[in-house]
Amino acid sequence: MTQYLAAPATGTATATGTPATGDRPGWWRDAVIYQVYPRSFADGNGDGMGDLAGIRSRLPYLAGLGVDAVWLSPFYASPQADAGYDVADYRAIDPMFGDLHDADALIRDAHDLGLRIIVDLVPNHSSDQHEWFQRALREGPGSPLRDRYHFRPGKGEHGEEPPNDWESIFGGPAWTRTKNPDGSHGEWYLHLFAPEQPDFNWNNQAVRDEFRSVLRFWLDMGVDGFRIDVAHGLVKADGLPDMGHGEQLKLLGNQVLPFFDQDGVHEIYRSWRKILEEYGGDRIGVAEAWTPSAERTALYLRPDELHQAFNFHYLNAEWDAAGLRQVIDESLDSMRPVGAATTWVLSNHDVVRHLTRLGGSADRARAATLLMLALPGSAYVYQGEELGLPEVLDLPDEVRQDPSFFKNNGQDGMRDGCRVPIPWTAEGPSYGFGTGGSWLPQPEQWAGLSIESQTGDPGSTLELYRRTLAVRRDHPDLGAGDAVEWLDAPEGVLAFRRGAFTCTVNTNAEPVELATVPGQALLSSGDYDGSGALPADTTVWWTA
Ligand code: NOJ
Repeated sequence: MTQYLAAPATGTATATGTPATGDRPGWWRDAVIYQVYPRSFADGNGDGMGDLAGIRSRLPYLAGLGVDAVWLSPFYASPQADAGYDVADYRAIDPMFGDLHDADALIRDAHDLGLRIIVDLVPNHSSDQHEWFQRALREGPGSPLRDRYHFRPGKGEHGEEPPNDWESIFGGPAWTRTKNPDGSHGEWYLHLFAPEQPDFNWNNQAVRDEFRSVLRFWLDMGVDGFRIDVAHGLVKADGLPDMGHGEQLKLLGNQVLPFFDQDGVHEIYRSWRKILEEYGGDRIGVAEAWTPSAERTALYLRPDELHQAFNFHYLNAEWDAAGLRQVIDESLDSMRPVGAATTWVLSNHDVVRHLTRLGGSADRARAATLLMLALPGSAYVYQGEELGLPEVLDLPDEVRQDPSFFKNNGQDGMRDGCRVPIPWTAEGPSYGFGTGGSWLPQPEQWAGLSIESQTGDPGSTLELYRRTLAVRRDHPDLGAGDAVEWLDAPEGVLAFRRGAFTCTVNTNAEPVELATVPGQALLSSGDYDGSGALPADTTVWWTA
């Protein structure tokens, strides 16, 4: 069995003697933020679906893991056409997740444990069941209420063609035709995602006012920040011009598009920053912004805009030393001019879990994590990665719920496989996720990957995360700063200094002999004897 070099942590953050972030100014700059996907974290009422009561009951686990903050994916009232990213009421909790009392209790308990709470805000689109959209439909063409969304007449002799050539991210045209109140064919409306997710028109003042009010509602509830869904999409190019080609999906993220990353988004974030600062307490905005370059992402993080953005360039990097070094340098270089902290992420609810994405080896996944947690800035951990969960690749079609699966005829529908409820115990219905079943079936092998099975096993992935996060807390110089000092290293190996630490990463499939041993090995992602021979797919942290 793998033995790590340092003794495993006891499992409680306070055991390290370092308090949680508390009121530390700039807490987010080096924070480790844990993403909870509410459907799949813990089920408090036994209906097979995760909920706020379940999350609340497991907060001590998260505090013990040693993370600083929890980001909750949407829990608002929603018909669940896109797992809650289709919001029908931004100020209400969906009954499947609980109610506002549960949210209040969750936020209070988290704060008592020293954990910050970040909620997901979905401002690019609402649900088609949102009262505003329903009223706009009912009132018909010409109603000022239609100006809150993008309604347009169709092209062609009878308006039978969509107003432009944009495609939905989930596949098919980005437009759906409505029926008029009298049953005749009507206007079309824009939806960059599913037809059940109509895009707001951010040129409309009522939309801007509404979201400022929604921000205040949740800030009054005590949340510490917002993860802003599709932050790059709110403003569309004037006149909604055609793309002019049929290759949109391949271009996403590589090029300026008429519906993404328009300069007009920035004044929205400047106005939100003022609200966040009015509330005090270092509350933050985190952009989910897919932009053509790290430099464009940095624009969202100017001192009067948002605080963090997900680093998707890093998430997309392959397991290759030269490529990783390049993306690390580019990420740090691009944030320096705006003074923002860089972020790092390997997994989330939209992508194949990193263990599987990087080739399927638990060793490599752990090595990638130890590299991420040695970098300056803030790191995001997606629920279950601390257990070494792989992507579930064999879900039967009939249990899948991801709208992109259906739109793409199953070709690209990969998102359910990272959303399977996590295992807490080795036995019992749904492996301790709840007392009933689980909305997506869990593989039998997950019994051995449960929190219960791994706790106390010094060779487990969970204990490695606990130990690593404890060391990171005890040594704030690990997450601090905005640069890494690269050291000479053999091919396929990264070596860099971070404060009093050195980190070496062997991305090769074979062991590598280091020319000099950088100090005393403190933590290793895998089986390692402390000599100069670094095993394949292994990261080691050293102290001088
Ligand atoms: C990004 C979210 O992470 C994803 O899950 C969702 O489908 C889209 N935005 C649309 O809201």
